[in-house]
This record gives sequence, C-alpha cells and structure tokens, in this order.
Amino acid sequence: MHTFAPDKASTDAPVEMGIALETQYASLYERVRAQIDPLDWSLHLPYIDAIRKLKSQRRAVVLAHNYQAPEIFHTVADIAGDSLALAQRAAATEADVIVLCGVHFMAETAKILNPGKVVLIPDAQAGCSLASSISVADIRLLRERYPGAPVVTYVNTSAAVKAESDICCTSANALAIVESLPEDTVIFLPDRYLGRHVARQTRKRLVLWEGRCEVHERFSGEQIRALRKPGMVVLAHPECPPDVLDAADFVGSTAAMGDAIRGGSIDHVLLITECSMADNLAIEYPHVRFSRPCNLCPYMRRITLPKIHRALCELAPAVEVDADVALRARKALQRMLAVGRREVA
Ligand code: 13P
Ligand code: SF4
Repeated sequence: MHTFAPDKASTDAPVEMGIALETQYASLYERVRAQIDPLDWSLHLPYIDAIRKLKSQRRAVVLAHNYQAPEIFHTVADIAGDSLALAQRAAATEADVIVLCGVHFMAETAKILNPGKVVLIPDAQAGCSLASSISVADIRLLRERYPGAPVVTYVNTSAAVKAESDICCTSANALAIVESLPEDTVIFLPDRYLGRHVARQTRKRLVLWEGRCEVHERFSGEQIRALRKPGMVVLAHPECPPDVLDAADFVGSTAAMGDAIRGGSIDHVLLITECSMADNLAIEYPHVRFSRPCNLCPYMRRITLPKIHRALCELAPAVEVDADVALRARKALQRMLAVGRREVA
C-alpha cells in the first residue's frame, strides 16, 4: 500500500507569472481560445501550470469526465472519457495518485478498483441525483419482492449499493450486461429512463426504479422539435426521458456521442446532454456547428482548477471505502469490466 504524507507544498493560490506563462502556454491557448476567453485564461493559467508540475511530483494521473469544463478537460486531464473509460483506465493506471475530476461515484469506483492508491476527489460534495435515489435497504426489499432476479446497477450509485448488486453497467454497455445474464427477470437500478431504453431492446422483463438524472430529465421532445433545423443531427444521452429519445437520431453514452461526431459526416449537431461536453467537442471539431440547450450538472461544476490544485497539494479529500463493501462492490465492477464496451444505438 502506498502512503503519502502531504509535503509542505503551499496550498495558496499559485503566484501569477503573467506574460511568461502566457508565452509558455500560447499554443495550448490557441487550441482552446474559441471556448475560453482571454481574461478567464489569464486567471486559469497559474493553476494549470502549478497542477501540471504537482502531477509529476506526486506521480499523479488526472482523470476527467466528458462533462468537465474545457479549462480542466483540455489542459490538465491525462485521460478523459465517459464513465466506463474512466473505470477502465483507473483499473489499469500505474500512477500512485488518481485525481478524479468528475463526481463522487466515479472517484469511489476508482478507489474500489485501486484500494492501495490515493484517490482524490477535488470536491467531496460532487454528488449525483441518480446515486442519491437508491439505498441498500431499497435493494434488499426488491430482492425479497423478486426472489432469484439478479440486480444490475448503473455505476451512478454509491459503493454500498454496488456491493449489493450482482453486476454494474454504464450507458455504454447496459443492454449487453442485461443480455449477459441467464435470468428472464432482471432488477435494473436506479435510472428509470435508461432502464426503459434497455427494456425496449430486450425480451427480458426489467424491474425498474424511480431514479432520474436531474440534468437530463429537463430535456423534452418538444424542445428538440422546436430546435431541429434541416441537416441537423440530434444526439441524446439515454438518461433523457423517452419522448426525447424518440425525437433523437442517435442515442448513446457520452463516448458514443463523441464517436458519432468523430465519424466526420456530421456538420451540425444538437447535443442533448450536459452542455460542457459540447464545449469540449467544439474545441476538437472546430468545423462542426454545435447547438445545445444548455443544462449544466451542478455536481460536475463543483470541480474547479483551484480545488484540483488544493487536492494535489494536500492529498485530500481522499476517497475511502470500507474494505468489506469494496470487496463486494469490486466483484460487481469487475464482472462489468469483463463485458467491456458493447454499445448499441
Ligand atoms: P456516461 O457514462 O455516458 O459518461 O454518463 C455518465 C453520466 O453521469 C451522464 O449523466
Ligand atoms: Fe448524475 Fe446527471 Fe450529473 Fe450525470 S449529469 S453526474 S447522472 S446528476
């Protein structure tokens, strides 16, 4: 087990070095300038520079979810992706310290897969409305009500809930995970809309829960019809309500939506998901026109450059998971990782 005592590194805001830093990072700014204005960039730069230096001092890796803001996603992240990619990469990293720029369940997943490493979440209050929609007691009641039915839990859940599950899934493999089970009735938790999306594509009977993503449930099919323009392609995340998914041209995980744009045949896209993702993709694909009704995830937004800097200085807040809970949750996660990415539109 690696243990670290925080060194004497100052957690004060890094000293601004103005012009020198601007020159040093000129080519990086050239890449992101369409999404970050010059005044914000000058405020971000001392943190970007200090975080990059601390990462190598700490042998740390920064993992960032696709919903992180461009000043994090495009400047300090070593690995960026959807929640499945973050779990896969966390399981494989050789770094001593993992800084998870995402929400708490993602950091917990990284810790469960790396019990011997220091896993930092720059803001411990970065929750998720899906994760808080279900408890261990709820799962136990469902198991009593549906004896013999296996429990599939979306990774957007606490470690304790994962520990009660047979197998986890993400939006990138939910159908394949359900189909991998021999039973005809499957308890699928906690996202009702993702569950309905899977239920439409399988012959199995799914027992669903009432969890919802507070960001994606705000979209509506009517909104899409109002925003649609000729030639526009509508991509939506499966956490959206059914009328949104019916109105979309493609439904997939955050990674699959990125891949659809990477394919090169889309000129104008309406991205129905957390809107920082469009900012990140707009930097990568400047020739593509992005339209988005801007719904931001308040939990993802809690992660900022100053908080990442502080976490690396203090090696805190560090995520801890009870050993017995971690052991059981790890089994559910490893079963999912063995299935891997198997997305269907
Ligand atoms: P992905 O697994 O598609 O990255 O989604 C995670 C999430 O929290 C979406 O709201
Ligand atoms: Fe949770 Fe929704 Fe935020 Fe994703 S966007 S982290 S599901 S609240």
